[in-house]
Amino acid sequence: MHFLQLLFRASSAALLLVLCLQLGTNKAQENTRKVIKMEVQMPRRANASEEITVKMNVKTELLECMVITSYLRSNITIQGPFNYRFTTCLCKNAPRNFYWDFHINETAKIAAVAQITAQLDICPNNEAVVPLGQKYIYTIGTITVG
Ligand SMILES: *[C@@H]1O[C@H](CO)[C@@H](O)[C@H](O)[C@H]1NC(C)=O
Ligand SMILES: *[C@@H]1O[C@H](CO)[C@@H](O)[C@H](O)[C@H]1NC(C)=O
Ligand SMILES: *[C@@H]1O[C@H](CO)[C@@H](O)[C@H](O)[C@H]1NC(C)=O
Repeated sequence: MHFLQLLFRASSAALLLVLCLQLGTNKAQENTRKVIKMEVQMPRRANASEEITVKMNVKTELLECMVITSYLRSNITIQGPFNYRFTTCLCKNAPRNFYWDFHINETAKIAAVAQITAQLDICPNNEAVVPLGQKYIYTIGTITVG
C-alpha cells in the first residue's frame, strides 16, 4: 500500500471533503459514471475532552456492486473505534454511511480511505466487480486540538 506513504504530504483542512473516482469511459459519449463518490465530514477543531465524529458517505453510479473497505489513518496513534474498518457491499442507489467516534488529545492529520477489494462473502452471491484502474480514494483533513 505504497499510497499510504504519500497520504500525509498533502495538506488541507475542510469541513466537507468531496471526491470522485471516475470510470475512464469515452469522454465523447459523456457517459462517465462515478465508480465511487465519497463525502467526508470531520471537525476542524476539537479538545481532548470531547468525542468527535468522522462521517463518510460513499455511493456508486456503476450498475454492478463492489466490495469496499473504509478506514481512517492518522499521523498520530489513536486508540479505539478510530481503527475500525468497515467492509460492505456498495451498490447503485444504496449509499453507505460510516461513522467513527473517538477522542484525540493532539492535533492530527486524518486520512479517510475507501478501497475497492475482492473480498468474498460480502456481496450476495459474490455478485460484485473490481473495476480496472485505481482501487482507492482518499481525502485528508486536519483536526486541531487546543
Ligand atoms: C471542549 O469542547 C466542547 C465543545 O466545543 C466545549 O463545550 C467544552 O467546554 C470544551 N472543553 C474544554 C476543556 O475546552
Ligand atoms: C494522548 O493520549 C495517549 C493515550 O490515550 C497518551 O499516550 C499520550 O501521551 C497523550 N498525548 C498527550 C499530548 O497528552
Ligand atoms: C500530525 O499532523 C499535524 C497537522 O499537520 C501536525 O500539527 C502534527 O504535529 C503532526 N503530528 C505528528 C506526530 O507528526
